[in-house]
Amino acid sequence: MVEPPLWEQLAAKSAELPQGERLQKVLAVRGWGSRRLCEDMISEGRVTVNGEVAVLGRRVDTDHDVVEVDGVPIGVKPGLVYYLLNKPEGVVTTAHDPQGRPTVVEIVPAEPRVYPVGRLDQATEGLLLLTNDGDLAHRLAHPSHGVEKEYLAEVEGNPGSGAVRRLRDGVELDDGVTAPAKVSQPSPGVLRITIHEGRNRQVRRMCEAVGHPVNRLVRVRIGPLRDAALAPGEWRELTQAEVRRLVEAAAGDTRPIR
Ligand code: URA
Repeated sequence: MVEPPLWEQLAAKSAELPQGERLQKVLAVRGWGSRRLCEDMISEGRVTVNGEVAVLGRRVDTDHDVVEVDGVPIGVKPGLVYYLLNKPEGVVTTAHDPQGRPTVVEIVPAEPRVYPVGRLDQATEGLLLLTNDGDLAHRLAHPSHGVEKEYLAEVEGNPGSGAVRRLRDGVELDDGVTAPAKVSQPSPGVLRITIHEGRNRQVRRMCEAVGHPVNRLVRVRIGPLRDAALAPGEWRELTQAEVRRLVEAAAGDTRPIR
C-alpha cells in the first residue's frame, strides 16, 4: 500500500486532536465555582451548549458555542444584577449627589451596589439601566458599540420636514456634528429620535439647534429593551433573555428581543 504524503498524515492527526476546552474548565475560569462544582452542574443537566444539554467531557469553543447555565449565558456571572428603572423627572443619575437631591440608586435595592449605565438629565424621564456588571456597562456606554437609544421629545412648535431632515442628517453642535439619527414625527409637536451617541444633553441640544426646544423628554428604548408597562419610579430585574440580548447588542448585534 502506498503511504499518503506526510502533510496529509499530519492533517489527519490534527483532526483527531480534541478541539476546544473542557466545559467544566471554561465554567470554572468564568467564576461559576470550582471544577468539581461545575462538573456537578453539568451532570445535573443544568448546562447547555448551543441549546442542547451538555454531557460531562464535552469540549467547547467559546468563540462560537453558546454556553448557558440554567438558561443564563456564561458571560453573565453569578452575583451580577441588572435593573431597568423608569426614571421619574427630578431624580439625578448619579450614585451620590452632594446637593442631597434624590438619586436613581436610592430607588433600587442598596445591595449589591449598582451603578447607572450612562445618564439621563435630571429633567429627563424614562428607561435607565443599573447594574454591577462593569464590563457590560462599559461596553454599552461606549459609542463605538452603537447601542441605540430611542427618545420621545415633546418640543416647542411643530417641526417641519426641513427640521426633521436636519436632525436626521446631523446637526452642528458646539462639540461637533451629530451622527445621523432616526427621526419621525408621530404627532404634531412630538419627535421620535433614535441616536447611538451619548453626548451630554444631546437630544435637547439637537432639537434646540433646529429651533424646537424640548419641553419633555422620555427615553423609551435602550438597544433591545423597552417596557411601556413600567410606571415612573418603578424598576424591575431584566429577564435572562433580556440580559442575553443586551450582551449581544453590546457586541454589535441589534436584533430586537424575540
Ligand atoms: N439627551 C438629552 O438631551 N438628555 C438626556 O437625558 C438624554 C439624551
